[in-house]
Amino acid sequence: MSLKETLEKYSKSNMYPFHMPGHKRRLKGCYEIDMTEVPGVDDLHDPEDVIFQDQKRMAKLYGADESYFLVGGSTVGNLAALYATCSEGDTVIIQRNSHKSVYNSAMLRHLKVEYICPRLFDNGIYQAVSLEEVHQAVEKAKNPRAIVLTSPTYEGYHCKIKEIADYCHEKEIILVVDQAHGAHLGFHPSFTNSAVKYADITIQSLHKTLPALTQTAVMHVSQGRVDLNRLREALDIYESSSPSYVLMNSISQCMDILEEGVDLFENYVDKLQNFYKACGQLKHLKVVEDTDENKDPGKLIISTKNTNITGVELARILREKYELETELSSFSYVLAMTSIMDSEEGFLRLEKALLEIDENLTTGNVEVPRIDYRPTKKIELYEAKSNRATDVKLEDAINKVSAAMVCIYPPGAPLIVPGEEISTETVDIISFAKAKGLHVTGLNKGLISVVN
Ligand SMILES: Cc1ncc(COP(=O)(O)O)c(C=O)c1O
Repeated sequence: MSLKETLEKYSKSNMYPFHMPGHKRRLKGCYEIDMTEVPGVDDLHDPEDVIFQDQKRMAKLYGADESYFLVGGSTVGNLAALYATCSEGDTVIIQRNSHKSVYNSAMLRHLKVEYICPRLFDNGIYQAVSLEEVHQAVEKAKNPRAIVLTSPTYEGYHCKIKEIADYCHEKEIILVVDQAHGAHLGFHPSFTNSAVKYADITIQSLHKTLPALTQTAVMHVSQGRVDLNRLREALDIYESSSPSYVLMNSISQCMDILEEGVDLFENYVDKLQNFYKACGQLKHLKVVEDTDENKDPGKLIISTKNTNITGVELARILREKYELETELSSFSYVLAMTSIMDSEEGFLRLEKALLEIDENLTTGNVEVPRIDYRPTKKIELYEAKSNRATDVKLEDAINKVSAAMVCIYPPGAPLIVPGEEISTETVDIISFAKAKGLHVTGLNKGLISVVN
């Protein structure tokens, strides 16, 4: 029996709960399967029964040696991965546009950090990290212990993981792939580049691209280079001691869907193909289509670069006039995320809205600031966080060392990270992003924290 079936059965049994949770399963809906670690439903922190079996099922489904359910999102996976694979003082190579959990992980483990600064496309989107960039970073870093790469990126660009993994392993470097946006990869020929079989650790958010509740994720491990005891210890540290059975039930149900999901993926691909074809008629807006295997077709990038409106304005029109909410809007594009659960009606509504909006646009050239500048690292992340800090006005922060991570959110790629020197350029970009209506995180009422 799967965890889902076990919980269903338990919820219908006569067993009276003189234990947590306090709702006593007497409220309707998900409360009925919300459990604590009683006999029969296993324990995520020490699985030996149904959770153990379901984790094995997960590993088989994805082709991993070991898979671990995560109920704190990929965030927990990233935190645990570096705890388990590195020791204090080790050097880790990360992408400068990594998710903040990767930074936090390096900071908490007191790691030295070397950055790969990926190139940008014209529309301001980060490209995937290339093998050459990995080579250069490894040569510069001197004996790095691990590399963390994000593949696919938020916008759906994939690294060549197999080649990178071969190179890392030749150099005895652990490869961790933050594949938060790639849990659906490997289930259809249109969705390739799963890292599971190549990376030492692959972390995937089920909730981002598959039918699963928010916070559900999974960590896959290839055996050989990763100490599994240390990994379990890390998960024990970073995950709640009361992991949600509602979330684990959702993971179990998601696997049921994936096991039967061939038709769902076929239908999804048909809908995507129809959408891209229809958007070929757009005169000003452009739906970015990468024909090679380097981009996930499920991430719809709608570029406003050659029009008279910004991505933020396009997202506003879609929201206010057409009741279509998108995932992300930036200077010159909007990102719409799709999945096997999208309806034909949803795709048609977006297609119709874009064609109608396009009719009223004119040709233009939306300004995109270069955010691929290279800030100077003055001290390590953890040193910046261990020191005392003061909040100052942005203009007074120039030439000081940041104690803050300031990001444009989403996607959350940092403009400045703790330990780096704040330049005039950084301050200008933060001001520009705010003026364009982008959401800037990491400031405190407009002030930035700097190391004393
Ligand atoms: C690349 C990347 N990694 C990790 C995360 C964290 O994932 P989660 O929200 O599942 O904790 C995100 C979230 O947006 C992300 O974009």
